[in-house]
Amino acid sequence: MHSSPAPLPELRVLFTREQIARRVTEMAAEITRDFQGQSIIFVGVLKGASIFLGDLARQVRLDATFDFISVASYGNTTRSSGEVRLNKDVDSSMADKNVILVEDILDTGLTMGFLRKLFLAHQPRSLRIAALLDKACRRIEAVKADYVGFVIPDEFVVGYGMDYGERYRNLPEICVLPPELQ
Ligand code: IMP
Ligand code: MG
Repeated sequence: MHSSPAPLPELRVLFTREQIARRVTEMAAEITRDFQGQSIIFVGVLKGASIFLGDLARQVRLDATFDFISVASYGNTTRSSGEVRLNKDVDSSMADKNVILVEDILDTGLTMGFLRKLFLAHQPRSLRIAALLDKACRRIEAVKADYVGFVIPDEFVVGYGMDYGERYRNLPEICVLPPELQ
């Protein structure tokens, strides 16, 4: 049997590249203001936040470094199972650092709730959360991001780093994946 890659379906665009770029610029300006004169470390949650982190960090006018973590929630569907496991920890010490956790999307909040506890145990100087998207209506664990790009309804989105079964991460827009494709 031969398997050629499936063609890309027409997806509904939720945010265009211009809308994303404008919002990310605003978020970067806010971070630059908040941490004036200080150093920060961006900690991206792989893989979904990688593109957002790259765009955000390049507009922040501060002394900054990057680190990355990788988490998995058991069960690999469109819904988080709530059971989070750390696959890759940070490379450097977070002690006494201004840490900004960078996430693509806050959904139930279970992942970020887990990460927040984990990072607070490292005793950073400060800990903030930057999330490009916030599905506020889906929250199970009370987690609030300090920097939010867009609040969105309960729809499954892909593109700009976000995937469905590892596909669509390279779409430059943020699109809605209709239920029939999930
Ligand atoms: P939470 O633990 O439910 O907040 O899940 C957060 C994670 O689930 C995000 O970091 C994403 O990786 C994934 N996720 C939640 N909603 C979506 C979506 O609409 N598209 C792609 N990934 C999503
Ligand atoms: Mg993620």
